[in-house]
Amino acid sequence: MAVRPVRKMGDPVLLQVAAPVTEFGTPELAELLADMMDTMAAENGAGIAAPQIGVSLQVVIFGVGKNPRYPDAEEVAFTELINPVLTPLTDEQQEGWEGCLSVPGMRGLVPRYTKIRYQGRDRDGGVIDRTVEGFHAIVVQHEVDHLLGKLYPMRIRDLSRFGFSDVLFPGQDLQDD
Ligand code: NI
Repeated sequence: MAVRPVRKMGDPVLLQVAAPVTEFGTPELAELLADMMDTMAAENGAGIAAPQIGVSLQVVIFGVGKNPRYPDAEEVAFTELINPVLTPLTDEQQEGWEGCLSVPGMRGLVPRYTKIRYQGRDRDGGVIDRTVEGFHAIVVQHEVDHLLGKLYPMRIRDLSRFGFSDVLFPGQDLQDD
């Protein structure tokens, strides 16, 4: 287990379409997940995708616990999601401010579907199939985008709504995810 350097926007690995995982329950997969967990915790992120630590595989983790600094933030159960398939369950999109560990210190206003279904596998190959809304749906769309070679700035409709966190939200100690 180790904290790995987070790749930043401009690194080609972040623009690749990640390959699916073909073998489950392996020590290699466990090691990748442990490194992702350590790195996400060290960076205080809400989620991280394998390409962000330089591994072009379809693996994401995410989760948001209770945080006294963000009493209004919805909790999202910690999840390891492999080979995800995402299906929007509505045409409705809502814009919200996002950040990313690969785009440190910045925020942008990004449209996301308000309700989605996601399917995938856990580390042992077990089926994950969930329908979610709200913050949970936003986090999953952001992380799955990393597996498609998409970073949130590519989704911003109005680039005047993209800037530095400390300028946009002075005095707030914002989490990158
Ligand atoms: Ni991100």
